[in-house]
Amino acid sequence: MSKADLIVGIQWGDEGKGKIVDRLAQEYDVVCRSQGGHNAGHTIWVDGVRYALHLVPSGVLNPKACNIIGNGVVLNPASLIEEMRQFQHLEGRLFISDKAHLNLPYHAYIDQAKERLKGEKAIGTTGKGIGPAYADKISRTGHRVGELLTPALLCESIMETLASQQAILDALGVSLPSKEALLEELEGYKKALAPFVANTTQMVWDALDAGKSMLLEGAQGTLLDIDHGTYPFVTSSNTVSAGACTGLGLNPKDIGTVTGIVKAYTTRVGHGPFPTEDTEEAGKTMADVGKEVGTTTGRRRRCGWFDAVSVRYASRLNGCDQFALMKLDVLDGFETVKICYAYMLDGKMIETMPSSLENVTPVYEEMEGWGKVAGVRTFDALPENAKRYIRRIEALCGTKVGIISTSPDRNDTILL
Ligand code: IMP
Repeated sequence: MSKADLIVGIQWGDEGKGKIVDRLAQEYDVVCRSQGGHNAGHTIWVDGVRYALHLVPSGVLNPKACNIIGNGVVLNPASLIEEMRQFQHLEGRLFISDKAHLNLPYHAYIDQAKERLKGEKAIGTTGKGIGPAYADKISRTGHRVGELLTPALLCESIMETLASQQAILDALGVSLPSKEALLEELEGYKKALAPFVANTTQMVWDALDAGKSMLLEGAQGTLLDIDHGTYPFVTSSNTVSAGACTGLGLNPKDIGTVTGIVKAYTTRVGHGPFPTEDTEEAGKTMADVGKEVGTTTGRRRRCGWFDAVSVRYASRLNGCDQFALMKLDVLDGFETVKICYAYMLDGKMIETMPSSLENVTPVYEEMEGWGKVAGVRTFDALPENAKRYIRRIEALCGTKVGIISTSPDRNDTILL
């Protein structure tokens, strides 16, 4: 029997999980997504061809890998179908849990309308209907992928749900599809997706029992977790490692190595507290050099210094065995680099994560920068100051760095 290795984002998402997952996906028999939806996204280049992934697991580029979209995902069928068009011969290589919840166009309209109404207090969601789809699931008014197999029944059921929410939808100004249009849409989804719908819970058990290697690909990041993140400025799923269990039907003993993906600095897209944000020159340089623009929404990401307090917290929450430290090269050329090792809150210095980051200010230590790490492929070849920075992160966060990325190139990766 084997265990499932897990990749999890440690900050506010966009840590560079894609590069690590793409690399690892080549080595695993099964690659799974367990939460989130098409709010996630990364781009992969293979032999000069660009692939955009949102819902399909990264194992899709490994012809031998089986790819599973677990029950914890909220699935937008139109987005998935569009994404699937990039690939051939997916039958028998891609499976969607019949228990995953549907994210339909009206969820996005509701998401966007609610954000508009919130004005300055908006969360800054991706507008993809993620929150409303999960809200329906938790309210027990959601609809599941398995229901796509009987479109007429599903259509009836959705129309009933929408009718019961009519007053709210009217107030939000959300117009709904006619029954005929909805049925046609659902029939299209059935045609395209029925061959992929499966009991993936049993599949992941069978795969592990048969000794297959399995990679669980986290989406978003720990600080966006609905329970443990910077609520309410979070996404609507459990992005922490425990979410991978509920999102696939695994138990905690099924989990093997947990790799936390950490960026050498910090970014956040959308609103919400960000203690180490740098709105001056340094933050702008990180954004420019790191090409910090969201793959899903095209929004510019906010940038700032490494926050060891929240990373230490995230490492403990996820049970990280190691970190993959990404984008170290983006800090090349800085005269000094800063690490936040504590917060000031109500006049006191704290080194643990409070339940809200709204009123904390960062306490920094400053270290000398290094010349250039871009393209370096061995630890020994790194400048001494870069090594010091890495060792300091390990000491402050209590987790060893096992992988270092020194450029977007797949080969510019140091394995320790
Ligand atoms: P939602 O997931 O679209 O509801 O957005 C909620 C918050 O999570 C917003 O701040 C988004 O910017 C953020 N978010 C959602 N998905 C991602 C992601 O894949 N990377 C980074 N931030 C994300």
